[in-house]
Amino acid sequence: MLFIKNIKKLVQAEDLPRSRVEGTAMSALPVIDNAWLLIRDDRIEDFGRMEELEEAGSGMAAGGQIEHFDAAGRMVFPSYCDSHTHLVYAGSREIEYIDKIKGLSYEEIAKRGGGILNSAKLIRRTGEEELYRQSLERVKEIIMLGTGAVEIKSGYGLTPEDEIKMLRVIRRIKETMPVIVRSSFLGAHALPAEYKNRRKEYVDLVIGKMIPMVAGEALADYIDVFCDRGFFTPEDTARILKAGTKYGLRGKIHANELDYSGGIQTGVRYNALSVDHLEFTGEEEIAALLASETMPTLLPGAAFFLGMEYPPARRMIDAGLSVAMASDYNPGSSPSGNMKFIMSLGCIKLKMLPEEVINSVTINGAYAMGIEEKAGSIARGKKANLFITKIIPGYEFMPYAYGSNHIDTVILNGKRVEYDLK
Ligand code: NIG
Ligand code: FE
Repeated sequence: MLFIKNIKKLVQAEDLPRSRVEGTAMSALPVIDNAWLLIRDDRIEDFGRMEELEEAGSGMAAGGQIEHFDAAGRMVFPSYCDSHTHLVYAGSREIEYIDKIKGLSYEEIAKRGGGILNSAKLIRRTGEEELYRQSLERVKEIIMLGTGAVEIKSGYGLTPEDEIKMLRVIRRIKETMPVIVRSSFLGAHALPAEYKNRRKEYVDLVIGKMIPMVAGEALADYIDVFCDRGFFTPEDTARILKAGTKYGLRGKIHANELDYSGGIQTGVRYNALSVDHLEFTGEEEIAALLASETMPTLLPGAAFFLGMEYPPARRMIDAGLSVAMASDYNPGSSPSGNMKFIMSLGCIKLKMLPEEVINSVTINGAYAMGIEEKAGSIARGKKANLFITKIIPGYEFMPYAYGSNHIDTVILNGKRVEYDLK
């Protein structure tokens, strides 16, 4: 057992765990001042106020060996749940970054065979072992930045074999790393060069061959489609989501990043768990989301990196919606998995309050990846995935001090985790 005492603030501590928070509730954050936390094995056993420690003492004595940790005025946060990443990829794309600086748009780069197709070229000539090795460094990096749960997508293979290769790497990360992992099959990420002008045939391949193969090896939890201008249409998306449903794969889709693409409505119609990006969200899209169980997930790192429109987070929350935020960690539009920086963008660019951004990267992020029952807050019985901060004045300091890490200790599955990053 691990007993952490003298916690200045125990952030997102829930007596009655919620599955997500929405609307005005997003600006409230349950926090216990001057708290303790008890971890048994890989779970959160109990927590409370230091003043009331006497009562808790008897329960603890019955529990056997206790390791003590004095937080000495530092804070405890639940680990971030990063519900949207593409962190399994080969190489990098800083040359396109330079093209962007010189004025080319994301879509122009994609049209020239750059972008996602560039990553597809690289991944096709990278072996599974090497892909695992490169991806592992990114996983270690985000763990040390406070992430305790991560969703990872395929989508740079774009052939049955290469998509399966990516998904096997994701599975191996899940088996070997202490972080909670969910995987999404994103065969319809871009039209591969060999299917140029044959979009329907490629969608047929995704549906007829890839989905059954992926499901046959139980390699994915969710299914994703890049439903946007120049990529896949709402009709393609509907076909793929329907096919996924037959295999128990719920949608988590890319929508409305480049235009009012109809992606949000399509996702909602097929009961997607989340629709992500949402830079182009108007009243109609908000109305569709309000009547749904779908989590709107914002990825401000992509808008920041590409210098594009930000999603209207304020309008969405004020209309009563839940909002999650994720990193979108990928080589083309957001080469960073730093969730603390995502919180800063949420505050600075999306005009969300510190409480709202913390809710969006913890409890709502957990919902957006279907793990709200075991992660996303400090609650009895949930996984002990959390971090202890350095000495900071208040929880608002985390999104405020955007360039520094401020994490002292990372605990996953109830154990301290440390990596030497290369
Ligand atoms: O979420 N929008 C589509 N996919 C990724 C970008 C992938 C890439 O450029 O490599 C995204 O931004
Ligand atoms: Fe993405």
